[in-house]
Amino acid sequence: MKVLGISGSPRRNGNTDTLLSEMLRGAADKGAETKTIRLNSMKFVTCQHCDGCLKEGNCIIKDEMQEIYPEFEQADVIILATPIQFMGMTAPMKAMIDRFQARWARKYVLKIPPLGEVKPRKGFLIAVGGTKYKNIFDSPLVIVKTFFLLMDIEYAGDILLKEIDEKGAINDHPEALKQAYEEGQKLLEA
Ligand SMILES: Cc1cc2nc3c(=O)[nH]c(=O)nc-3n(C[C@H](O)[C@H](O)[C@H](O)COP(=O)(O)O)c2cc1C
Repeated sequence: MKVLGISGSPRRNGNTDTLLSEMLRGAADKGAETKTIRLNSMKFVTCQHCDGCLKEGNCIIKDEMQEIYPEFEQADVIILATPIQFMGMTAPMKAMIDRFQARWARKYVLKIPPLGEVKPRKGFLIAVGGTKYKNIFDSPLVIVKTFFLLMDIEYAGDILLKEIDEKGAINDHPEALKQAYEEGQKLLEA
C-alpha cells in the first residue's frame, strides 16, 4: 500500500507537518510505503484555465505539478494536510487542487478515469488552525470532500484541530499526535 502525504504548510516541521508525519509513521508501522510532498518546496503555477487539458485530459503546463500527478495515480491513500490561513486551506494546497482541473476533464469531458488505473483510493484531511473560531474548517472541508469525490477518492476521515498556533505547539498535545498515529494505522486496516 502506498500512502502519499501532502503538506500545504509553509512552515517546515510545523504543526501540520508534525501531525502528517505521525500519521505516516502509523501507516508505515503497518507496512505501508509512505511518501511526503511539501508543496512549499515545489514550483508550480495556478491553473490558467487555458483549456489545454480538454483534448487529452493532461495539464499542458510543464512545471513541477507534473511530478505530483503520478504520485496521486500510484497512491492507495492520499492525506492532504494544511494549516488554516484566512479561514481556508493554504494557497499552494488550493493551487494544487485547481491543477486537477485536467483530471476533472478526463472524467467529465473525455469520460475516462481521472487518476489512471481504477482502484480503491482513500483520502484523509488534516487541518490545523490557531484560533477557536467556529467555522475555520468549513471551507477546507467542502473543497477537499468535493475534490476527493471528483477524483473517485473515498473520503475516509479527518483530524481538525483548533487553537494550535505557535510552531511546535502541537507537541503540547500528545493526544492529538496519538490520534494521528492511530488514524494512520487505521487507514491500512480497513
Ligand atoms: C497568513 C496566516 C493566516 C492565518 N489564518 C488563520 C485563520 O483564519 N484561522 C485560524 O484559526 N488560524 C489562522 N492562522 C494560524 C495558523 O493556522 C496556525 O498558526 C497553524 O498552527 C499553523 O500551522 P503550521 O505550523 O503547520 O504552519 C493563520 C496563520 C497565517 C500565517
